[in-house]
Amino acid sequence: MASAAPVLLLDQTDSTNAEARRRAAAGETGPLWIVARAQTAGRGRRGRNWESDDGNLFATLLHVTRKEPAEAAQVTFVAALAVADLLDTYAPPSIVTIKWPNDVMLAGQKASGVLVESGQHPSGGLWLAVGIGVNLAHAPVGTERPATALAQHLRGDISAPPKVDAAAAVLARAFAVWMERWETLGFQPVLDAWIARAHGLDGPAVARLGLETVEGRAEGVAADGALKLRLADGSLRLISAGDVFFGETS
Ligand code: BTN
Repeated sequence: MASAAPVLLLDQTDSTNAEARRRAAAGETGPLWIVARAQTAGRGRRGRNWESDDGNLFATLLHVTRKEPAEAAQVTFVAALAVADLLDTYAPPSIVTIKWPNDVMLAGQKASGVLVESGQHPSGGLWLAVGIGVNLAHAPVGTERPATALAQHLRGDISAPPKVDAAAAVLARAFAVWMERWETLGFQPVLDAWIARAHGLDGPAVARLGLETVEGRAEGVAADGALKLRLADGSLRLISAGDVFFGETS
């Protein structure tokens, strides 16, 4: 059976991803979950800030891999599935969905984000910092799209969201299971499971890619997880990274 990586619980750090990066630079290989009760400089994708409200989960897995960067990046799908399993434990699974590539949603609103960073490890290989933020207790305000928190969607028999240490333990176990499937069976079963939980993969979509915004119809994902977007001129654009909004036109 897959065994979870150990969890290091810090009271406070700047960013658990930054902490993982420092440890990798110093030669640590992990696997190790770095979890903080508070972040003073939590970071999100595309240079955004990640609000770090008390009682939410801020966790980063430090892991070293021999995979090539493009393949290693698939870990983002593993992370999304593990977060979905965590949320399933406390919320009705029917409201837990994934938005391409790795935002986990509760009743259609963002409850979690994943930020994967990587670099060359001093011992060879590639270090990965798989950073995961889950809104357990509080949803940030003032986000571009409304966000939510697990506390607002608990199953009837559960009175409060899990504490950070309990949530980290559930996440670490779920992640280990998906990681083992990826390592032993390859990406396809991971992608199949991800597709089964994904929403919006077949309809209008707007993708924000750096300075460029493209609009079209999502037509599912390619074998490597890239989003297939059919543009108005009939061409197919494969999108590997960016902010995508489904069910919308610009
Ligand atoms: C996103 O923008 O959706 C990704 C957010 C990722 C936030 C997590 S919180 C734990 C880890 N440490 C960070 O500084 N960021 C990630």
